[in-house]
Amino acid sequence: MSTDHDHATAGHPVVDAVFTEVARIAPEVRESLLGRRTYEEGENPSGEQQLEADVYADELFEEALLALDGVGSYASEEREGLVEADDTSDDDYHCALDPLDGSSNVKPNNVMGTIVAVYDEPLPAGGDALVAAGFVLYGPLTTMVATCDGQVSEYTVVDGERRVSDTDLSLPDDPVVYGFGGRVPEWTDDFAGYVGLVEDELKLRYGGAMIGDVSQVLTYGGIFGYPMLRHHQQGKLRLLFEGLPVAAIIEAAGGRSSDGERSLLEKTPAELHERTPVFVGNEEYVERLELALE
Ligand code: F6P
Repeated sequence: MSTDHDHATAGHPVVDAVFTEVARIAPEVRESLLGRRTYEEGENPSGEQQLEADVYADELFEEALLALDGVGSYASEEREGLVEADDTSDDDYHCALDPLDGSSNVKPNNVMGTIVAVYDEPLPAGGDALVAAGFVLYGPLTTMVATCDGQVSEYTVVDGERRVSDTDLSLPDDPVVYGFGGRVPEWTDDFAGYVGLVEDELKLRYGGAMIGDVSQVLTYGGIFGYPMLRHHQQGKLRLLFEGLPVAAIIEAAGGRSSDGERSLLEKTPAELHERTPVFVGNEEYVERLELALE
């Protein structure tokens, strides 16, 4: 039986309610995949194809989170603009979600996630306004990680409820795995040089859903990154929905994040769907990356 103290989010009732709702909805998202593996006509605001499952999960989260007292707005990777709650106040929290991270993994039936970020300033907001972050991982089990106030809790999600499995998750000291996105010919020479060194020391794990790949790093130690590319200097991942929440989790777990120059948590997006290079992992590997890119 877990206690309130085991929940990283316990000190903030609204934030805790957000994570309770996300856990409640997670089994529904998982079940909704059956029959929603086909593509919609449209694209998301970043120009990626949307699955019926992306749109369905987005609507489930929007409805549930905006219904909570103290949540003032909802933004997601799947929609252009913000949605505001009917009643708002200056004390509200603001939720930014990637409802189904890695949804191209639906067809091959590989892992996917839901990423959640809770800010205490209107969106787009930066790392200084990030109060809590977490993710659900739809793997062989449905698990969840949440960070708040410097603590990282891990849960299994059973029947829509969180069961604590680790009260203070931290990165292992001896890193084992690495995974980097983007096509190799698109990598810069400096980045490719760095990867050459990493390849000699760590073992490749790359699954194409950021949350799955970040979970490998959280579990085994190492580094995950989606770098700047020759034709896309800002890479692929979105700062508000992906970069900031994952940076908060990894940094609270004792690791580091970077956009190649500085912690992602020092950044504030100018617009909701702004992209950034993302690197997260053990301090030693993120530091060496920054040196290699100098
Ligand atoms: O959100 C985009 C995403 O699906 C991430 O989850 C993942 O890390 C990345 O794209 C994979 O991109 P690629 O197919 O280029 O490796």
